[in-house]
Amino acid sequence: MSVIALDGPAGSGKSTIAGMLAEKIGFLHADSGAIYRTITLASVQKLGSGADPEQFGAMFQKSDLDPDGLGIRVVVSDGRQSNCIGNVDVGREIRTPEVTARIRYIADSVNCRNTVNRLLREFADETGLVADGRDMGTIVFPDTPNKFFLEASVQVRAKRRYEEMLGQGNSSQSLAEIERDIARRDEEDRNRAVGALRKADDAILIDTSDLSREDVLSRILAHIQFRF
Ligand code: C5P
Repeated sequence: MSVIALDGPAGSGKSTIAGMLAEKIGFLHADSGAIYRTITLASVQKLGSGADPEQFGAMFQKSDLDPDGLGIRVVVSDGRQSNCIGNVDVGREIRTPEVTARIRYIADSVNCRNTVNRLLREFADETGLVADGRDMGTIVFPDTPNKFFLEASVQVRAKRRYEEMLGQGNSSQSLAEIERDIARRDEEDRNRAVGALRKADDAILIDTSDLSREDVLSRILAHIQFRF
């Protein structure tokens, strides 16, 4: 089926745009970051939040350790992805700073990456997909003709995230703290040995700094090609 790969750094707006786009064209929005987050949360629950962060990645170095053993379930229903551990939907819990701070140990694990990538490709076998992440266009769906890379400055991305959090009544982090976290995550995501954040050579670059969501969406819609 057709895949639209939407990559970009933290806070570039990819998830919001991917959700809008998927709804508009009747595709499934696959949020790969949410899957990495769910594996991270399940690891925190298994090891305890006091565990040395490096232990999180070490859990998955052994090739026989299957992240499925952690009870993670990525459920698709009514065209929406829910991220569960056991029967509990952990959609909110995976967004905490505690989880975000530990993701890199999971995202660096090739074993975890292969598991996530396999799942995404299974989704794509079943349905049209808008897949958002860091390596959708480069590694997971290199053959799709629909690749987009969303960019915006660190300051713009931090401000967006800050306002989004305030809108949800969450003032646990200052703008400066969010900016620092985003810059650190950029560094980690760009320098990962496998699955690094990188624009595919044939991806269309969209700088979203001065664009509304609707503008970004219409730029993408102007470029997509469908395969049946
Ligand atoms: O998209 P989101 O910010 O929720 O992703 C959380 C983290 O998951 C990223 O910072 C990155 O470390 C990891 N990730 C990844 N590859 C993807 C998507 C996310 O390594 N395709």
